[in-house]
This record gives sequence, structure tokens and C-alpha cells, in this order.
Amino acid sequence: MSYYTEEQWTNWVDLLSENDYVIVDNFLDTEIYTNLTTLFNCKIEDDKFKKAAIGALNNREIVESIRGDFTYWLYKDKNEESIKFFEVVDEMVFYLNKLCFLSLSGYEFHFAFYPPGSFYAKHLDRFKNRSNRMISVILYFNEDWKTGDGGELRIFKTERTLEIQPKANRLVLFKSGDLEHEVLVTQAGRKSLTGWLLYQPASLGYLLT
Ligand code: OGA
Ligand code: NI
Repeated sequence: MSYYTEEQWTNWVDLLSENDYVIVDNFLDTEIYTNLTTLFNCKIEDDKFKKAAIGALNNREIVESIRGDFTYWLYKDKNEESIKFFEVVDEMVFYLNKLCFLSLSGYEFHFAFYPPGSFYAKHLDRFKNRSNRMISVILYFNEDWKTGDGGELRIFKTERTLEIQPKANRLVLFKSGDLEHEVLVTQAGRKSLTGWLLYQPASLGYLLT
């Protein structure tokens, strides 16, 4: 079964290849979106989020002055509530491979919570010592986000920067190796799902956090 038409995927993939990023509002259908937010809230309440680290594998470190978020790693069969979301991701990978000849195989995803006052300084999502992240995928859960809440995603393009408001059910895709970006200081608690589509399967990186 398929969630979006080939025409829709073609349209998004074209924008991504032309501009290095694409924004899709109201991306998930209500049921899939609601199940994800329920799961997010349960894991926060159960204290399952951990302080995020930077770097890959044996180079991981926690540096407060670079990123201040807390994360909970997800994978395909871990939670009932995210099964359909991962079916959507499988469809995304299928069409990116088909339309861009990308050879993506595998992905890694985590929920992220930024408490008030936290941010993520300017960075590239592709680690120096592990360069298999091809496409960054972000989805926001901030229902009542308003100007002044902060936590915008700032993307640095060569000719300009743009700021993306982290509004509920907004999807952002960008090329992990090409676009530097940062999360501006958030004033309100900021909820998101962040993932990367990989050139090879993840080497179980999520087990280490
Ligand atoms: C990241 C990241 C951006 C965002 O987790 O690497 O840049 O808007 N997140 O949450
Ligand atoms: Ni990033």
C-alpha cells in the first residue's frame, strides 16, 4: 500500500534536488501523526529521553554549549505507535532511490526534546568519521507554536539563510552533507522527530546513547 502518489513524491523530490531542501506542511495523516505524539509524550513522562551527544560511535561526547536537547531513539519494530510512520519512511526511501538513483539502505531516527533555553549550534549532520548520512528528515510536534517561541531551524544556503518555524506536522528534508544548519534558542519546550536516510545500514549507533 502506498501513502502518497508517485506524482507527489516526484514533486517533493524535485524540490529537494533543486534547492537542497524541501518543506512539506501537514505531512502525516492525522492518525499517524497523533500516534507519534502520543508515543513522544509517553516516553517523556516515563523519563526515557537521554541527554543528546555529538559525534559517532567512540567519538561521542556531551557538549552543552553545542546542543542542549534530549533524545529517544526509535526503530522500526520497537513501538506499535510508530509502525505506520516507518512505512511512510520506507516509501520515502523507495521513491528517493527510484527517482534519484540514491542507493539509500537504512535509516536512524530519534525524538528530540529541547527544554526552554536550549539550542543546537551550527553544524553539518554528516560526521567526519562516518559519512553515510545522506538526507536529514525532521518532523515537528509543536501544536501551538507562535512567533516568539523561538527554536526555529536556520538553514545556511550559500546566498542566504532561511528560518523554518517548527510547526506541528511540518516535514523538512535536506541534504545532510551539503547544508549547515542550527536550531535557534527555544523559549518553549520544543518537540521533534529527527532522522537520517543512510547510504548503508546504521551500525547500531542508537545502542550507544
Ligand atoms: C539535528 C538537527 C534540527 C531541528 O538534530 O541534527 O539539526 O530542527 N535538528 O530539530
Ligand atoms: Ni542537524
